[in-house]
Amino acid sequence: MPPPHNPRHPIHPYTSPSSSYKTSFISFYCLKIIESSVTMFLYPVLLSSVFSLFIFLILRATVRRTRRLPPGTLGLPFIGETLQLISAYKTENPEPFIDDRVSKYGAVFTTHVFGEPTVFSADPDTNRFILQNEGRLFESSYPGSISNLLGRHSLLLMRGSLHKRMHSLTMSFANSAIIRDHLLLDIDRLVRLNMDSWSGRVLLMEEAKKITFQLTVKQLMSFDPCEWTENLMKEYMLVIEGFFTIPLPFFSTTYRRAIQARRKVAEALSLVVVERRRERERGERKNDMLAALLDEDRGGFSDEEIVDFMLALLVAGYETTSTIMTLAVKFLTETPHALAQLKEEHDEIRARKGEMEALQWEDYKSMHFTQCVVNETLRVANIISGVFRRAMQDVTIKEGYTIPKGWKVFASFRAVHMDHHHFKDARTFNPWRWQKSSVATSSSINMFTPFGGGPRRCPGAELARVELSVFLHRLVTQFSWVPAEQDKIIFLPTTRTQKRYPIIVQRLKRDDAIYRLKRLMQEERIRKQLSSNT
Ligand code: HEM
Repeated sequence: MPPPHNPRHPIHPYTSPSSSYKTSFISFYCLKIIESSVTMFLYPVLLSSVFSLFIFLILRATVRRTRRLPPGTLGLPFIGETLQLISAYKTENPEPFIDDRVSKYGAVFTTHVFGEPTVFSADPDTNRFILQNEGRLFESSYPGSISNLLGRHSLLLMRGSLHKRMHSLTMSFANSAIIRDHLLLDIDRLVRLNMDSWSGRVLLMEEAKKITFQLTVKQLMSFDPCEWTENLMKEYMLVIEGFFTIPLPFFSTTYRRAIQARRKVAEALSLVVVERRRERERGERKNDMLAALLDEDRGGFSDEEIVDFMLALLVAGYETTSTIMTLAVKFLTETPHALAQLKEEHDEIRARKGEMEALQWEDYKSMHFTQCVVNETLRVANIISGVFRRAMQDVTIKEGYTIPKGWKVFASFRAVHMDHHHFKDARTFNPWRWQKSSVATSSSINMFTPFGGGPRRCPGAELARVELSVFLHRLVTQFSWVPAEQDKIIFLPTTRTQKRYPIIVQRLKRDDAIYRLKRLMQEERIRKQLSSNT
């Protein structure tokens, strides 16, 4: 049978009729073969796919009915709602992703992000339930890239009794007494040391990173800043860049580079551990975290465990605190009234001391308004917007909903911190709100969780607060500044400012500060006198 002529496919002008006939003849038979293959193989495949999709949808609906999943949508197969989430978090205002779903389904809803069905909680009580049941009903869960780069012995990935031991050891090196007696002095000294070189244009985020990295190294292994710490920091940056990549070295150069950098960091830290073991044999002892890890009575950990632990602590301690320092300055710059009140508090402290005199614990404890600024920055910045956990079994939560075993859960701190029901005018930076309310009441403990909660609550919480307070003290008493250019906050892959917050700094003359303070004190005295006369 000749192939049918298709009038919409004119014969190509450069092919002879005979060749074109041959070609169309062959294509006709090819088409026939393809058609029969489709009938033989593809139709059944297509039919079974449609059937499977149908069964999948029915099962999904049945599971939802029988297990009472929280309301919500799983979106498209495989992708779920990941693209919506990414596009929301790529803008300056990511809130609508959560707001829309909360108003449609309530504070606990089902979604499907990053390849997995996930129950998302914007509810403070549910968040608390998730955090408190760590290790019993839920376990921490990190993306493959982060787990590989941190190492299996890092505190963030550890479970069970070893986690408990490591967590309390970390706490014992970052608690109030240790900060008061040892770390405060180092914090103040290292902040000053770095600020001494500031002039003109300063990339605040970079400077803050240097400070917090040096502090963590000091706290961990007693090293002061030197070429070694500088090189270590450079490698660290590469490791962190790999956190939010696809963990396949073949596909991602960033991940490949991060793996190499991790190897170098681990080697450098291993050498330190070996040297410290030798020092101990010679009877020398230092008072730092590494000494405690090497201590047989307290830990007796292997070299590999110690290296993974130190590597993760450096990540946890320095990236977070440097971001919060930068954002505090950004929020204060945009709220001049708050900045003026903060300056007043610190000028007053400085007026009681010599210019170079170190800060004491009592000075820190007298920084009342500063603590309001710290709280408010943590609340609005949400640098850790929440935590992922995985359900270890079917878990029944508030309102009788079930989180199926193996599902991911995201306890969102950001959603609670930004909710007008929990914080009046929640999306405005307002440090004064903390003058009235305190974090000490049980309901506000659930509501204000920048450091998480339960067995994995951040062991560096107090340390981060002190670091930020000292940084602000030295900044406002030594400098005035203006933003060098417009900069905005971005949320992906982590929360930070796009341009590392460039500012132009100007060193204050001490006389200016003292003069201003004396005038303020005089005004205060006159005010008191007037009010006692009336
Ligand atoms: C503003 C600064 C900081 C913020 C907002 C912050 C926040 C957090 C949060 C929310 C968690 C809980 C993670 C979870 O539940 O899975 C956490 C864990 C952790 N943080 Fe921080 N952190 C900060 C500073 C620090 C500092 C300075 C250190 C250094 C000592 C540190 C060390 C850790 C460690 C080791 C963990 C893991 C705890 C565990 O899994 O048991 N953090 N942090």
